[in-house]
Amino acid sequence: MDLTSSQHNRLHNEQKRKSERQAGEKEDEQIVTEIMRRRFFPDVITYKAWEGFHFAGHEIRITEATDCYGAVVWPSALVLCYFLETNSKQYNLVDKNVIEIGAGTGLVSIVASLLGALVTATDLPELLGNLQHNVLQNTKLKCKHQPCVKELSWGIDLEKKFPRASCHFDYIMAADVVYHHPFLDELLLTFDHLCKNDTVIMWAMKFRLDKENQFVDRFQTLFDLEVISNFPSLNITLYKAMRKGRMKVRPSKLPI
Ligand SMILES: C[S@@+](CC[C@H](N)C(=O)[O-])C[C@H]1O[C@@H](n2cnc3c(N)ncnc32)[C@H](O)[C@@H]1O
Repeated sequence: MDLTSSQHNRLHNEQKRKSERQAGEKEDEQIVTEIMRRRFFPDVITYKAWEGFHFAGHEIRITEATDCYGAVVWPSALVLCYFLETNSKQYNLVDKNVIEIGAGTGLVSIVASLLGALVTATDLPELLGNLQHNVLQNTKLKCKHQPCVKELSWGIDLEKKFPRASCHFDYIMAADVVYHHPFLDELLLTFDHLCKNDTVIMWAMKFRLDKENQFVDRFQTLFDLEVISNFPSLNITLYKAMRKGRMKVRPSKLPI
């Protein structure tokens, strides 16, 4: 039976979509394998548990903490570190002012520092001891700018600790900060407080439950979002965001 031209077109488009989807899945699988290859574990059991990573030409050792969420390095952090390393020309961090919120064990802050940024790694007070230890151990005498570690509990004392008039960040980094916790309003408030007109937000979002995933819609009331990488096999999307109406400005062209 001969196909009409519209049936032929439909079939062609379906086949095209299928092969694009398959290519996308293959790319996802290949890059995720490459990202996960950056992680290694100690050969012997040590007194303090640690995980190792290879980024920015360095071996990075991360000591795990006892707190449940800040205890380990989450896959979103690896996705963000891999992106920063492999796109360091387009997103040149040398001498840029970077703040990481919800830094946990500190991998993203460490990698940004090794890439030349002036970094402030932040988290809840109870996480700061281990965060400081990891940051210091992996950046001392290895970085252009020594990073600092500071308390930032979302939504609390923002103006006192990070005054709008004197704080300017070129980048805000956030990996896996949206999950089942009661501080999503405060998280949005924090992005809003720290983000200037020329600040770029690099946010790795792990999609879990619908209720928390809706945060993306609320985020978009204040910021324009662009997907820069997507890993369906990990349920992680890496976004770049800027204040509404500012997205056309390329990061390398920002007046910094
Ligand atoms: C899932 S962990 C991600 C840690 C790290 N970014 C990573 O990807 O490995 C979430 C982080 O957000 C921090 N966090 C949770 N609630 C917070 C709050 N109200 N204020 C500041 N940080 C918070 C936790 O302490 C934890 O370090």
